[in-house]
Amino acid sequence: MLDIRTFQSDLIIDSPGRINLIGEHIDYNGGHVLPAAMDKKITLHFKRSNNNTCNILSSNFKSSFTINLDKLERSEIEWQNFILGVLFHINVIKPNSIQGFDCIIESNLPLGSGISSSAALECGIAKGVNELFNIGLSDIEIIKLSRDAEHTFVGTKCGIMDQFAVVKGMKDHLILLNCETLDYKLIEADFSPYKVVLLNSNVSHSLASSEYNVRRDECDTALAAIQKKYSDYKFLTEVPAKVVKEFKTTLPEKIYNRALYVTQENKRTLKAVEFLKSKDLKGFGNCLYKSHDGLQHLYEVSCKELDFLVDVTRDLDYIIGSRMMGGGFGGCTINIVHKDKVEEFIENTSAIYEERYNIKLSSILTTISDGVKKI
Ligand code: GLA
Repeated sequence: MLDIRTFQSDLIIDSPGRINLIGEHIDYNGGHVLPAAMDKKITLHFKRSNNNTCNILSSNFKSSFTINLDKLERSEIEWQNFILGVLFHINVIKPNSIQGFDCIIESNLPLGSGISSSAALECGIAKGVNELFNIGLSDIEIIKLSRDAEHTFVGTKCGIMDQFAVVKGMKDHLILLNCETLDYKLIEADFSPYKVVLLNSNVSHSLASSEYNVRRDECDTALAAIQKKYSDYKFLTEVPAKVVKEFKTTLPEKIYNRALYVTQENKRTLKAVEFLKSKDLKGFGNCLYKSHDGLQHLYEVSCKELDFLVDVTRDLDYIIGSRMMGGGFGGCTINIVHKDKVEEFIENTSAIYEERYNIKLSSILTTISDGVKKI
């Protein structure tokens, strides 16, 4: 069994989680999102070995496994698939480029909290292996193969936002990413005098992964119906709300609502960026509330605990915006809170949340940090 106390690393990689200010469930619909890398991260310690196997230890799971590089197949154990999938897809692009190595993984990223511990793990492994064996993968190759690993080995048909933010994140900047072209702009993350505070509901509903794929299918259904009349639209985010509304009576209500949310959220993301650039933080925060309302009522990926956490902020004048973050059905809310009131907010909300749901809340005061890197 590997032991961090005696392990002599050849390479250490830090791979962060991500936040997303706005643009939720938009990446796989080809629109704009506004994520950033955060200071909570996974640290991966790598060491080359002399055979064709890899020993991997997760300190958090207190669990280890051995990979035979000649036999990269799916495992029954979910977390192993993030690693196996990445190695498999590196092998597809650069056959026989990976040699044996050992790796110890430590993490201070809570799992299932909507801050993408999965992308952090995938991109951390990809970056580490790339460096360790001088494979020459570009950032974009690392981003795409990490996403592909999640599709094929884990089974979640995720978009590209998380992997992009984990790899391209830059300290104190948000990434305005066009998920169709992968063009992006870095935008200064200046919320002062406000701070970004995550509240972790500490619920993680089992629906998260299955319903995620259902939402993707529902969006495809909506787009296919719209394309029958308007064949030029390639993505749902390109369809203006006015056009979506033409389908109100012909599309099933649920499918219509998904499409309406998607087109509105994409527009809202671009508007939010304008508010941020012109330092209209109230306008920015308002977009966050509207995003939550859409996720709750039209896209239906929220849950009662997240709605409660957002609702308690609505009358607090020291909070300018709040919404659920990430895939949904649990995880965190993201809140923009006046710097002098952060403690009071966390204390009060923790008390009423625990009283209501008998669940302890945890909070993360977020600093926006660099993406995956060698340390
Ligand atoms: C998960 C996925 C992302 C994205 C978000 C929702 O984090 O991995 O690709 O779709 O949900 O915005």
